[in-house]
Amino acid sequence: MCHSKGSDCCLILLVFLVPLVTSDLYLHNPRGSNNRLNERTATRTNDNRLFDSQNNARGGYNVGDVTDVPAGNDASKQYQMKYFQSGSGLPGDESYLDIEWTNQHGCGGNEDTSPQKQNCIMVLQYMCQDTSVAVADTDKLRDGVVTNTQDYSRPANENENEALKISRKTNAVKLDRGLQELWEWYDKCKLRERNRGLFTADQKLNLNNGLGYSSAVYTRQNPQGTRQGYECPEERDYHPYWHPTPWRDISILAENRTMCSYHQSNSFNTQPYHECVEMYNPGGKPKHWSRWNNEKDCTTNGGRWVQFSNYLEKAPSYVSEATCVGTRNGMRYIWAVPYDTENIEQKECLVALEQPDCQEAPWSRSNHLGDGNDGKNLHYRWHLPYFPSTHEQRCVFRMRYNISTDDYDPYHTDSGYNNAGNAKLPVQNNPEIDIGGPSKLQLALNTDQTGRVFQDRSHVFLLRPRPQIIQNGRLFNLNVRGKRGNIVQVYPAVEYDFTPNNLVMTERDMVHIQWTGSNTHNNNAPGGDGDTGDAGEGTGGTDRSNLVQLRSLNDNFPLPFESTTMWSNAETLWVPYSAPGITAEEIALNMATSGYYRCMTPSRCTEKDNLDYIVETKTKLQNQLNNAPASYEGAVLRFRKGIYHFMCTRNNNFSNRSQKGMITVQ
Ligand SMILES: *[C@@H]1O[C@H](CO)[C@@H](O)[C@H](O)[C@H]1NC(C)=O
Ligand SMILES: *[C@@H]1O[C@H](CO)[C@@H](O)[C@H](O)[C@H]1NC(C)=O
Ligand SMILES: *[C@@H]1O[C@H](CO)[C@@H](O)[C@H](O)[C@H]1NC(C)=O
Ligand SMILES: *[C@@H]1O[C@H](CO)[C@@H](O)[C@H](O)[C@H]1NC(C)=O
Repeated sequence: MCHSKGSDCCLILLVFLVPLVTSDLYLHNPRGSNNRLNERTATRTNDNRLFDSQNNARGGYNVGDVTDVPAGNDASKQYQMKYFQSGSGLPGDESYLDIEWTNQHGCGGNEDTSPQKQNCIMVLQYMCQDTSVAVADTDKLRDGVVTNTQDYSRPANENENEALKISRKTNAVKLDRGLQELWEWYDKCKLRERNRGLFTADQKLNLNNGLGYSSAVYTRQNPQGTRQGYECPEERDYHPYWHPTPWRDISILAENRTMCSYHQSNSFNTQPYHECVEMYNPGGKPKHWSRWNNEKDCTTNGGRWVQFSNYLEKAPSYVSEATCVGTRNGMRYIWAVPYDTENIEQKECLVALEQPDCQEAPWSRSNHLGDGNDGKNLHYRWHLPYFPSTHEQRCVFRMRYNISTDDYDPYHTDSGYNNAGNAKLPVQNNPEIDIGGPSKLQLALNTDQTGRVFQDRSHVFLLRPRPQIIQNGRLFNLNVRGKRGNIVQVYPAVEYDFTPNNLVMTERDMVHIQWTGSNTHNNNAPGGDGDTGDAGEGTGGTDRSNLVQLRSLNDNFPLPFESTTMWSNAETLWVPYSAPGITAEEIALNMATSGYYRCMTPSRCTEKDNLDYIVETKTKLQNQLNNAPASYEGAVLRFRKGIYHFMCTRNNNFSNRSQKGMITVQ
């Protein structure tokens, strides 16, 4: 039919009506797991491990290893990236981490200057736990050492008592498996009625969570309620969410600037949300869940509709509203009921979160895991938080990529438009459309995917308080992205490179150079729909990096130490070991060997913890870094004005792989 009527009709229909059903989000810095842990295979083992990514099974990076051997089932040998918190809440003391990602289906743009094929929102968030506050082992944020999903079973009935709840939790949560959201978070979601006002098109959502009603684990995108880690599907699919969540918003990269006030004012960072609280028995402890998702049902059924606040951290030293509320060191303090409390009667002093940043999403092209308009990787500079307690935090970063079509207005299409047969239904599954004449064309339109959210998350990392010596001033992070292999083997992950590629800073700023790698990036079969193999230098499967100065980016041969300017122009402010009077040569040596050596002679390394890192006495470093550690905790440096180029001696392989970067100091 198309041929006789002219193929234009087909083309137009296909371009404008075929919705976008395959699209992905891959986080490259910090390394996104895409649900991988430490697999030697090209594909991840378990796409339900921690969260619902909707991504290709080949994406993601393994958790880092501390040493030159795989951590295996020893979690203490896994490397967590360690970023320094901001030095205070005041301008001039910021720490920055450059987030980098690729998104397959394009984003950003506007009708006038750079038309885009879908609407798109990026939501950047994190969650943390204070490492110096006692947390039950079951509840610790962790990467785990096996790839299984945490277990879960629902209560036998709605009247489960606290003892039974505890045993149900204890049976489910395994210490050797990864954990991000808590077990209670999923339980709450499984047992709370779903939001009946949502547009679910003609999807048939499961009607029974086992206790006789449909719940928040069933959504248009996940109608049967597949479980991924302890993520709550309803919360995953919608943002801003209308109940308290454990996530803090960093930034929303919105469809357009006009939308920012909506995203910002509804963010749980500053907008408290309610939840229904019921008691185990009258006057008893509050339960962590309730069936009721609105005030009327809640109070009618004897619950209390409680308003909860999100927060950065608690400030327990302020015990009254009068002493608490105010601004100190650039941080705002509020008196409110924290969302994760066991005592709903008690307001506490909380360090407040600010409204998230919001900007227009950067433009990127559809069907490409490519760069943005600025010729750089898609990136966002995260202003890391400052925790006034000076406690170290254990954290996870999460990013969602939300695309929708104009086939219906996402903000004004609600449950009144649902169900097959409803005349108002704006989209339906694989519809056939009339093109004139007897034939019809079937569209590939899946209503669980018109309006679809993709996701990636980091492995666990630490946000550390700054030591005194680097307390004030701006601090940037310089890291390495990518994994072992050539471009088709690593795809849709990326090859090695420094990130950011050109760090621009001033003489007063600091940079923390740090990287992590895995010893199990073998990229073995199964390869899924891509290539297997791990082309690269040194021992198969192992990531290694180092940093040595180059004269210019066009060179591939590093400068001998005697000719370098980078190190004599640097002040080494911090290294993770004791190094009084550390010399230019010593920091150059440390960087060049990924931390394998710290000094040349025993007379320079007299501290006990440095004895195993001396050139004169240690087993020789293998020339491709095979016996060097996969991860490098690094150093914090300040540089004098100049431009410094550098490379990685192992991975850089001209015409095959380029791992080079530069720092421009103004
Ligand atoms: C995705 O966008 C839709 C609008 O198209 C919105 O209703 C939903 O809340 C968004 N979800 C997330 C996670 O951003
Ligand atoms: C911004 O995006 C919203 C949501 O899609 C849309 O309703 C609005 O018309 C857009 N505004 C501008 C100025 O483009
Ligand atoms: C450079 O890369 C190519 C392709 O992966 C490889 O064949 C070659 O051996 C590499 N060179 C070195 C010195 O390792
Ligand atoms: C780069 O790799 C190709 C094979 O992919 C090889 O022929 C070439 O020699 C390599 N270049 C270098 C400098 O090793």
